[in-house]
Amino acid sequence: MTSTIRKCLFPAAGYGTRFLPATKAMPKEMLTLVNKPLIQYGVEEAINAGLTNIAFVSGRGKRAIEDHFDISYELEHQILGTSKESLLYQIRDVISQCTFSYTRQVEMHGLGHAILTGETLVGQEPFAVVLADDFCSAEGDGVLKQMVALYNEHQCTIVAIEEIPADQTESYGIIAGEEISPGLYQVKEMVEKPKPEDAPSNLAIIGRYILTPDIFDILRHTDPGRGGEIQITDAIAERAKTGKVLAYKIKGQRFDCGQIEGFVAATNFVFENLYTNGS
Ligand code: UTP
Repeated sequence: MTSTIRKCLFPAAGYGTRFLPATKAMPKEMLTLVNKPLIQYGVEEAINAGLTNIAFVSGRGKRAIEDHFDISYELEHQILGTSKESLLYQIRDVISQCTFSYTRQVEMHGLGHAILTGETLVGQEPFAVVLADDFCSAEGDGVLKQMVALYNEHQCTIVAIEEIPADQTESYGIIAGEEISPGLYQVKEMVEKPKPEDAPSNLAIIGRYILTPDIFDILRHTDPGRGGEIQITDAIAERAKTGKVLAYKIKGQRFDCGQIEGFVAATNFVFENLYTNGS
């Protein structure tokens, strides 16, 4: 029996320490590229892929995310009928298309742990994961839409990858595998943040995943890995030992907005290419 993806999980409980002091009282995911928060770009990418069941793993100090995806009666009443009302059209459209659910990660034990925390929202079905601090832009289909199409064909776990300079492997999960068609690899090995000399390739995992629900049982038994955190890379590597895991080289551009240089590059990119001033 084939299954389709309906849900998109957004792990958004991290402390965002690389952006302090901006993230002291504000979630990293609410940082804006020009006038739109990173998390809204992520949710719009999910909608573009046909996923309107949105699940957030949030944490302390993340209330602004919930408020963003809700109506702000006072504000909306204030600008009703004025020229500024159009600035809210896009977010209203997002809100009207989606359902939003939330759970909280009480202790931050890493991305794998955050995804396991999301089990209560996801249940026993395949799902997408978006890390909103990886901002992706594509000219045709959005990156998540590309991956959902691939899932519909292959019905298995898929991680998004891109080629990185060999000296940056220590910032990423790195895959090794057999290229089964251009840009699509069957994963044989995955290593979290290896030194360049230990890296099996320069193909780095980025913040888009399609996971099958068996990942939750694997995560439950995954020991803390690098940095003492439960790593999703380790769990997917375990999955690859017994089942098909694909790595897909995305068509589009990706900016690492979890660090300052990537965030500034993304801001310039959005201003020059995507900014529409709400119209
Ligand atoms: P990062 O590795 O970017 O960590 O997490 P971070 O805490 O957000 O940022 P820094 O390193 O302190 O600056 C990647 C993604 O995983 C989520 C983050 O919110 C981000 O979307 N995450 C990470 C969790 O939800 N929980 C965790 O325990 C760790």
